[in-house]
Amino acid sequence: MIAQYGQGGPEVMQAEERDIGAPAAGMVKLRQEAIGFNYFDVLQRKGLISGSVPGRVMGIEGAGTVTAVGPGVGGFTVGDRVGYLRSQGAYADERLIEADLLFHLPEDVGFDIAAALTVKGFMAWLCARRLYEVQHGQTVLVTTAAGGVGSLVTRLAAHHGARVIGMVGSEPKRRPVRDSGAVDVAVGLDDAGGMVARLTGGTGVDVVFDGLGADTAERLLAADAVRPGGTIVSFGAAAGWPTADREAIARRGYSFMAPQAPDYIASANELRGAMAEVFALHRNGAFGAIPLTRHPLRDAAELHRQVDRRVVFGISLLLP
Ligand SMILES: NC(=O)c1ccc[n+]([C@@H]2O[C@H](COP(=O)([O-])OP(=O)(O)OC[C@H]3O[C@@H](n4cnc5c(N)ncnc54)[C@H](OP(=O)(O)O)[C@@H]3O)[C@@H](O)[C@H]2O)c1
Repeated sequence: MIAQYGQGGPEVMQAEERDIGAPAAGMVKLRQEAIGFNYFDVLQRKGLISGSVPGRVMGIEGAGTVTAVGPGVGGFTVGDRVGYLRSQGAYADERLIEADLLFHLPEDVGFDIAAALTVKGFMAWLCARRLYEVQHGQTVLVTTAAGGVGSLVTRLAAHHGARVIGMVGSEPKRRPVRDSGAVDVAVGLDDAGGMVARLTGGTGVDVVFDGLGADTAERLLAADAVRPGGTIVSFGAAAGWPTADREAIARRGYSFMAPQAPDYIASANELRGAMAEVFALHRNGAFGAIPLTRHPLRDAAELHRQVDRRVVFGISLLLP
């Protein structure tokens, strides 16, 4: 397993062996088959989220096989294929987890796709289907379009007939975002403002899906990149916690949402219902061929180094 000691760069990540024992009441033991890398892991590693807990096992999402079941657990037996999101302790070859946090994998969904779609697929569905239903003919701007959530939002919106403008941080990421279905791809916010003006004839986009945070929303509003009455879904904070000018939002009738995944999966039923929707979208081809890169779990620190250098595209998995 990979545990975190201290806060900072990837050097705070340490590989170690621990005996995790048998599952207690309400818990199951999993053999992990695929672990989802999540930008949350970076924020936690840097100490920007959830405080310092020496020895905390990193990671919050993955998929695996049930190998033992604790007392009082119903609905899961040894050999079941399951997934989970938002449960600390994923960077491990085996782990214990509350049964209520698990969902069964459909037969046609492999472990890699399941681990790719847990948080990222769930967030894309939450943002572009459940909270805001992207419509055919709309124009959509996706910042962090090369990221895990962003690449899936881009695919989902394009699948539903929207004209998607992507934004990335560097030139080499333009091509893969185009391949995800974006009609054009801007490099940086200034370029995005100009591209939106050009492609919408100055009207602005209907909706922005923003994973960057910080002052992104304010800058887009100042550049009139969102049409009056349009929507900003601020789902991430890769560049810092989102700030938004409430007065500008109110004045032009914008809607601003900053959804947090845990608020929409509070119960086991909610979680399982949401993941059924995500897998149905996948089955219908809404995400296309999901852009996956696989890394051995023992190389997790190297993956974090690549993420810090911002050279990673799409969804990264760690394989035990
Ligand atoms: N609200 C929720 O419940 C929820 C759920 C999932 C994810 N999130 C958040 O959503 C954001 C994106 O998640 P993800 O899984 O898609 O992450 P990801 O795959 O790591 O992508 C993040 C993107 O952000 C950009 N980026 C990275 N570091 C940056 C920096 N220092 N400054 C500016 N941009 C940077 C990179 O794109 P470029 O290099 O192209 O700019 C990268 O492609 C993260 O903040 C994550 O924590 C929130």
